[in-house]
Amino acid sequence: MPSEDQFNQDEQFKRRKKEGSRLEDFGLTDRPLDDYLSFLHLNLEDLKNKKILDLGSGKYQKFARQLKEKFNDTEIVCLDISLVFKTRRIDKQLHYQQQKQPLPLLAGEFVDLPFKNDSFDYVLSLYSLSYLKTFEAYVSALAEILRVVKPGGRVHIFPLRLPPPKEIYSSLTQKFYELFQNKNLPGYKICEELINDLGKVRFLHYDRKENQYNPFSYVETGLVIFEKL
Ligand SMILES: C[S@@+](CC[C@H](N)C(=O)[O-])C[C@H]1O[C@@H](n2cnc3c(N)ncnc32)[C@H](O)[C@@H]1O
Repeated sequence: MPSEDQFNQDEQFKRRKKEGSRLEDFGLTDRPLDDYLSFLHLNLEDLKNKKILDLGSGKYQKFARQLKEKFNDTEIVCLDISLVFKTRRIDKQLHYQQQKQPLPLLAGEFVDLPFKNDSFDYVLSLYSLSYLKTFEAYVSALAEILRVVKPGGRVHIFPLRLPPPKEIYSSLTQKFYELFQNKNLPGYKICEELINDLGKVRFLHYDRKENQYNPFSYVETGLVIFEKL
């Protein structure tokens, strides 16, 4: 009998295969601890004894493994869609890494996080949310991130790359559809507006990357850090 996790993983794999998704579509990398600290403006000591979620943790979870070597009492959970794809080479290497240093690895998607509310002190995303292809997926993912971070917990995302809504499904998408049409509004303002709309958020840092505004293109920021109130 497969375990429930294994079953969900297999179901996700079948669905992805049916959609024609390939592993390469999700851009597998494996950035080390130092890159996470500098891109996400994290202070290493702040991560001690914390519960951390790495969203889109990459090929072999290098960041998580290096952090765990430094602080064994830090709990770090890795979620990545690539874990539903099976390739012999990656599986073999992962198996080896997991034997040396077991970490909680979850095959999952940003839009539907398999965690209870208020679970993490930090939710991190380095070059991963930017793989979401629709505005609606971004709204769901950001709402999920906010749900699973603890009050007082922090979210560090680099970068936020928001596609315009394609259709007006709801009052929310209608509002953003109109914001995307407003040529005088800097792109980053749209990202800021979206996160603020989720409520219970305090911005701590916001890189205002001034992209060339174009109503048909993505709007992009650099680093975004916010706290759940
Ligand atoms: C460019 S890699 C970044 C990996 C790591 N954070 C790093 O900085 O090296 C993007 C990661 O996000 C994962 N990913 C992309 N879209 C995803 C989704 N919708 N749900 C979960 N993981 C996703 C990919 O499988 C990939 O491992």
